[in-house]
Amino acid sequence: MDILGIDIGGSGVKGAPVNVEIGEFNTDRHRIETPQPATPAAVAGVVKEIVNYFDLKGPFGCTFPAVILHGVAMSAANVDKSWIGTDAETLFREATGFPVCVLNDADAAGIAEMRYGAGRDHKGVVIMLTFGTGIGSAIFVDGRLVPNTEFGHVEFKGMDAEHRASAQVRKDEDLSWKKWGKRVNEYLNYMEMLFSPDLFIIGGGVSKRHEKFFPYLTTRAEIVPAQMFNDAGIIGAALAAQELL
Ligand code: BGC
Repeated sequence: MDILGIDIGGSGVKGAPVNVEIGEFNTDRHRIETPQPATPAAVAGVVKEIVNYFDLKGPFGCTFPAVILHGVAMSAANVDKSWIGTDAETLFREATGFPVCVLNDADAAGIAEMRYGAGRDHKGVVIMLTFGTGIGSAIFVDGRLVPNTEFGHVEFKGMDAEHRASAQVRKDEDLSWKKWGKRVNEYLNYMEMLFSPDLFIIGGGVSKRHEKFFPYLTTRAEIVPAQMFNDAGIIGAALAAQELL
């Protein structure tokens, strides 16, 4: 069965129909630039465009890079502040005419990786971290998600962890892979001290280049790259929307 998944990011909004039985796209994804400013009304317009493009009539899933409590955005670290308090599920349902499940982007990516990717069949404590503009997190205990963990915002070395170790920081500060890898390693060791996971899954676009920085990672827990790269958010959104059926 196909369910539409949509991933809202800072630069692009991407969607694809996902065959939820196998966790794969059925056709190529469709991408539209994120409108600037990315206000709720402007983003809802883009979500509607993607829904119309695929013409899948039915419930769909949608990620958003913020804390999402029962469909309402509660934070806005790297997005327009007007999202705080916005009921994204109602907004997107009214814009498209279809029921929608909205969830945090890293939670969605984690759901996809746990079901069909790097975390498949993993019991125990698994932490997925996505390194991009910010740092997203999802923690699973025996396959069950604890949502909205926001580990990118733990205080680390006197600042928000994502301001020290996100993939964006590597670019902004022009850090070598070694220097950045060491920062990521310190952060992972801190996470390990707090949660003693069995496995870390490292996602985000940068996970495609994992061989550049994995040599600097030294945690006791096993560390693996995500397998779905940038598709994980779309796939996880579609999987989450299954509960609406
Ligand atoms: C946000 C999270 C999000 C992460 C990755 C952080 O700044 O607070 O909600 O999951 O970025 O996009």
